[in-house]
Amino acid sequence: MKAAVFYGPHQPLRIETVPDPVPGPDEILVQVAACGLCHTDLHYIDHDVPTAHKPPLILGHEASGTVTAVGERVKGFAVGAPVLVPAVFSCGECRQCRRGRENICEHMVMPGNHVNGAYAELMTAPAKDVLHLPQEIPLVDACIIADAVSTPYNAVKNRGRVQPGDTVAVFGCGGVGLNVVQIAAASGAKVIAVDISDEKLENARRFGAEVALKGGEGNQVSKEIKRLTGGGVDIAFEAIGYPPTIVQAFDSLARGGRLVQVGYCQHPVELNVSRLMFFEMEVLGSLGCSPLDYVPLIDLVARGRLKLSELISHRVPLERINEGLDHLRNGQGIRNIVVMD
Ligand code: APR
Repeated sequence: MKAAVFYGPHQPLRIETVPDPVPGPDEILVQVAACGLCHTDLHYIDHDVPTAHKPPLILGHEASGTVTAVGERVKGFAVGAPVLVPAVFSCGECRQCRRGRENICEHMVMPGNHVNGAYAELMTAPAKDVLHLPQEIPLVDACIIADAVSTPYNAVKNRGRVQPGDTVAVFGCGGVGLNVVQIAAASGAKVIAVDISDEKLENARRFGAEVALKGGEGNQVSKEIKRLTGGGVDIAFEAIGYPPTIVQAFDSLARGGRLVQVGYCQHPVELNVSRLMFFEMEVLGSLGCSPLDYVPLIDLVARGRLKLSELISHRVPLERINEGLDHLRNGQGIRNIVVMD
């Protein structure tokens, strides 16, 4: 099969012919229809974040496709079925999996990180993790549900616990933050979007933000949010991973408010703990999405309650994957995907 292979940081992915993967007894062989290009890939390619499996490795963790073969013990999938492959496979046995928190599984396996991923014509995945896709959702576009939509869904529903009538601020309206905006708005919240890019703020308005504010350094934006809301928002999501905006997000909260950290940040951040204690505030992390939540999420997309195709700005064939990664590097568009022939 054809695949885009990662040989190490600071070099383009190489398009090569590699052996077809063979599904194990509990696995499915998926003919990949499309795979989303994600910032996580740029962490490996540009920023020296090591992959769990040493390269060469096929990256890609946001895939949709069609079942082409099933292992001998697989019962629930027929050849030809449209499926979504989630960004993380859980072990099902550790303490966190047993508590229904598979997204923080102690032995999680991520395609395109621990094992070969979806920048390829074929991939294997454990049947227990793969999800059926309904006909209403275009198969190619569905790929981005696996991370760009599901990660914000978990952040809004489980970590932010957003309720109708809540006021919400979303810092960063890139691929992830924009979906926080649309899911929080669909949950009945009043959403204030913050970004430094006018284009991203315009996107945020189209996806349900009632207010769009230009961000920047300093505490101006937090003050403006407090002024607009009469004291601060109930929930702030940070979807950038930048220490100053993490502080801004925390500082824009009302008493009893909740900061949900969605953006990845490896630096320490100083937050005012006296406010945290005195106003009973919460600071929570949010990672990925649990398998349980994929079913209602797919249903919301199928019923047209969440926009999907409108999120996809660039579609490139596998041969031009490095061009697609450049779009991502330059912050162009909302979500870029690789579409297989
Ligand atoms: N203030 C406000 N917005 C900012 C600022 C700032 N100081 N700096 C950057 N932004 C905006 C950018 O303009 C962009 O719209 O943050 C957005 C970041 O979006 P993307 O680069 O598209 O990143 P995305 O894929 O959405 O991921 C965001 O979530 O899962 C994590 O690893 C991921 O840390 C990353 C974060």
